[in-house]
Amino acid sequence: MARRFRKKIPQGSVTVTIDRLSHDGRGIGKLDGKTLFVDNALPGESVVARYVNSRNQFDELVAETHNSRSAERVEPACVKANICGGCSLQHMHPDLQIRHKQQVLLDQFTHFGSVQPETVAPPLVADHLGYRTKARLGVKYVRKYDHVLVGFREKHSNFLTAIESCPILVPAIGEQIEALKVLVRGLSTYEAVPQIEIAFGDSRGAIIIRHMEPLTAADEALLKQFGSEHTLAVYLQPKGPDTVHCLYSPWGEVDLTFASVEGLTMHFRPTDFTQVNLPMNRMMLAQTLDWLKPEANEKVLDLFCGLGNFTLALARHAANVTGVEGSQDMAEQGYRNASANGLDNVQFYAANLHDAELFAGTKPLPWDQTYDCVVLDPPRTGAEEICRTMKRFAPARILYVSCNPATLARDAGILATQGYRLKKVGVMDMFPHTTHVESMALFEKS
Ligand SMILES: C[S@@+](CC[C@H](N)C(=O)[O-])C[C@H]1O[C@@H](n2cnc3c(N)ncnc32)[C@H](O)[C@@H]1O
Repeated sequence: MARRFRKKIPQGSVTVTIDRLSHDGRGIGKLDGKTLFVDNALPGESVVARYVNSRNQFDELVAETHNSRSAERVEPACVKANICGGCSLQHMHPDLQIRHKQQVLLDQFTHFGSVQPETVAPPLVADHLGYRTKARLGVKYVRKYDHVLVGFREKHSNFLTAIESCPILVPAIGEQIEALKVLVRGLSTYEAVPQIEIAFGDSRGAIIIRHMEPLTAADEALLKQFGSEHTLAVYLQPKGPDTVHCLYSPWGEVDLTFASVEGLTMHFRPTDFTQVNLPMNRMMLAQTLDWLKPEANEKVLDLFCGLGNFTLALARHAANVTGVEGSQDMAEQGYRNASANGLDNVQFYAANLHDAELFAGTKPLPWDQTYDCVVLDPPRTGAEEICRTMKRFAPARILYVSCNPATLARDAGILATQGYRLKKVGVMDMFPHTTHVESMALFEKS
């Protein structure tokens, strides 16, 4: 078998002038004809950069000194921003970040080539700090220093970043990173806790402690005390995701909640999918209603509906909304949310929406009918199978919410072959300071 050798990383530093940004927000420059991708470098800047990786076609570097500074360079909100892999864009002014994300989106339409949006809507932006309600934090005991790290991985390494706080997470947990470290170090199994997940609603939050070894009664008492002192629910995960259970909740057996739009309150469990940025979620739902304009006599199909985030907002306006979701548990949570909000014009179904056979007409679908509007909010892989057979549902309008511009551009091309025009697109700053590009697209039948 051929052995792959890692290319030797050049030693020393080089001076590079940055021409433009890559899709992941790194500065791009050239040296002796070779392309360089440089972290922490903005267009127009001249930087002195150190190599971190070398490939045949390009090298990867990190800027260490800035000979000239872009007017759109800002001081990062986090002192570890240049080390921590959780954020990549903190050195960019938020206006540049969102302009860059819009360009990434438009580049994908150009790259796929078959469809161009008729209009580009202004970006949706909200607070860019303290927004993140969901995260998976790595945990590691470092024997040499007898201390515990809690945080995200470093850039260009598998080590966890030594952070004391995180300004991106909601403050209720972002300011408690030190307390989490002390908590884990106090457990008898401090070497066997690899991860802590966090999940917050508007006012209540939970932590999920993954532990590889059984906890003692003293450990459980410590965790309950932490939950009580910090007003947090504490969940344990001894094995796979199905083993997550509540150890302590300050509110008894109640779900977390977030306010949506139209006076709706959404209930969720810490392991359910929810949008990470709650103010942006509300803006996204308001824009959905504004773009789609569901009428009182219309039927809507909401695909990849989760626990009914779009479904219920649409149901406030439309005659009837059908939500379809891969997880049976989430579909059931959708019904609970409908009932808690007094809505009875919705149905939820569980189905694998990436199963091409589902749409081939060979399998019976309980929700197989025509609709006035379809909402799609797929994972990164997109919604190719559905888009190929969209005529089955015959919607006049399609609203597509995307977390991956490449699959959105691909699916837009597929929808174009079925007679849909791309009326508008717009980016939404769901994950400020990271390279995630969230966007919305409206298609109409020509
Ligand atoms: C981006 S989330 C959107 C959820 C929801 N629309 C919201 O706003 O909260 C994508 C959803 O698709 C679901 N999903 C992932 N793969 C799926 C599949 N193959 N079939 C159906 N649903 C799937 C996930 O469980 C998740 O709820």
